[in-house]
Amino acid sequence: MPKACFRKSAAGAVPLRVIVPKSMAAWSKSLEKSQRTWVKSSGFNAASGSTCLIPNETGTPVLAAAGIDTGSIWEWASIAKSLPTGTYQLVPDTDGGDEDSTRLTNAALGWALAGYAFDSFKDSHTAKLGQLVWPRGVDQAFVLACAHAVYLVRDLINTPANHMGPAELADSARVLAKTHKAKLKVTVGDRLLRANYPAIHAVGRASDSAPRLIDMTWGKASHPKVTLVGKGVCFDSGGLDIKSAAGMKMMKKDMGGAAQVLGLASMVMAMKLPVRLRVLIPAVENSISGNAMRPGDVLATRKGLTIEVGNTDAEGRVVLADALCEATSENPEMILDFATLTGAARVALGTELPALFCNDNNMAEGLLSHGERSNDPLWRMPLWQGYASQVVGKVADVNNAPDGGYGGAITAALFLERFVQRDKGGVQKWAHIDLMAWNLSSRPGRPEGGEAMGIRAVYSYLAECFGR
Ligand code: BES
Ligand code: ZN
Ligand code: ZN
Repeated sequence: MPKACFRKSAAGAVPLRVIVPKSMAAWSKSLEKSQRTWVKSSGFNAASGSTCLIPNETGTPVLAAAGIDTGSIWEWASIAKSLPTGTYQLVPDTDGGDEDSTRLTNAALGWALAGYAFDSFKDSHTAKLGQLVWPRGVDQAFVLACAHAVYLVRDLINTPANHMGPAELADSARVLAKTHKAKLKVTVGDRLLRANYPAIHAVGRASDSAPRLIDMTWGKASHPKVTLVGKGVCFDSGGLDIKSAAGMKMMKKDMGGAAQVLGLASMVMAMKLPVRLRVLIPAVENSISGNAMRPGDVLATRKGLTIEVGNTDAEGRVVLADALCEATSENPEMILDFATLTGAARVALGTELPALFCNDNNMAEGLLSHGERSNDPLWRMPLWQGYASQVVGKVADVNNAPDGGYGGAITAALFLERFVQRDKGGVQKWAHIDLMAWNLSSRPGRPEGGEAMGIRAVYSYLAECFGR
C-alpha cells in the first residue's frame, strides 16, 4: 500500500534537505565544523539521487542531505531507496531552489513508487522503506491515486499467467468496479458469438480459460465520454505460429495494455474526473489446441470486415478490432487504447518509450507534452497512409500480419485504424499506445518486471481536457 510510505505527524522526523550540486559549497559552509567534516569524509557531493545522513555527537542522525538535479520522480525514488528506514521531513530550500508543488508532488510520488515490491509469492518480504512526512501543499489524493494505480498495473502484470488468466483479469476488474461503484458487464465464451464479438472468440477459444470481453462504465451519463481499450492477452504463446522459448518467456505481460487501462481508470475514478468513462478489455489467452485459429483462416469481426490470419501471433490487433469497433458505437469524445502490440515498436523506440499513434494533431501534442511533464514520455509515430495497402488482405478485407514485416508498428496501427472508422462519417478521435509494459532491469522506483507506461501522461491530459 502506497499509504504506508507516508506519515502525517512530523514527530521525531529527521529533516531532509535537498541540495543541487551548484549550491553544495554554500550549504557545506553553513554547517557546523564537525558536520562539514562528516559530509566531506563521507564523499557526499550532491550527485543526483545520492544521500548523506549526518549524526550528532551521540551518533543519532539529525540531518539528512540529498542531491537533486532535475527533480524527476525517479531521482526522488533513488533518494528514498538510499536512506535507511526512519521518518524524514523535507525542509524548505534556502538556496534558491523553488519549492513548487510539482516538485513536492514528484517527491511524494517518487517516494511511493520506491516502496513497491512484488513479493506476494515469496515467504520473506522485501526490506521496508523509510517514511516521508507529507510535504505541505502536496495533493495527497492525487499522489495516492497515482501510486495506487501504478502498484495495481505492476501487480496485474507481474502476476503469472496461471494466476492471471482471462477469468482472473475479469475478477480484478470486478474488484475495481466495486470499489468505485462502476458498472461491469463481462461477456464470456460462446456468448461472445451471440453478442457478435467473433474475433475475440476466435483468438481466445483454444484456451481452457474462456475468452471474454470486460466492459466497465463509470460516471454521469451527461459528462463527456472517454473510452479506454486495453489488450488483455493473458498469455501469448504465439498460437500455432508458436513463439521461441526466448520470445515466450515474458508473455504473461501481454495483458499489459489491459493493466494500464485498469490503472488509469482507477486514477480517473479515485480523482472523480468529470467524465463518463468506459473501459473495454478483450481478455483472452492465445493458446494452442485443436480448435485454435490457423494461419490462413479468415475470421469474421464485429464491424463486418473479414480478417485473413497472416500470423496467429499477431493476435492483439484481432481482439482489439472487435473492442475498438464497440468503442466507437457510442461516439465518445475520444478513444485511447493501450497494447503490448508489436516487437517492431520496441525495435523502433526501445523498451522505455511507448509509441503514440494518433489521428488528431492537437490530441497528440497534448499527450506528448503531458507525458514530458509527468516523467512519463511518449513518442509519436505516423499513421502513414502510404502503408495502408499492406494491411489489405489477399482473400479477406484485411490481413493481420503483412508480408515482410517492415514498419510493423505502423502497419499494426493502420490495421486498428480500420476498426475505429465511424460508419456514419466523421472522424473518431483516437490514440493508440504501443508499449512494453515491462522494465528489463531494476532501477530505484522502477523494479524489474511489470511497469505503468503512459498512464500518468494520459491522466494529466484528461484532467486538462475535462476538469479539475
Ligand atoms: N505480444 C506480441 C508483441 C510483443 C512482443 C510486444 C515482445 C512486446 C514485446 C504480439 O502479439 C506479437 O507477437 N506480435 C508480432 C506480430 C507479427 C507476427 C506480425 C511481432 O511483433 O513480432
Ligand atoms: Zn502475439
Ligand atoms: Zn501479443
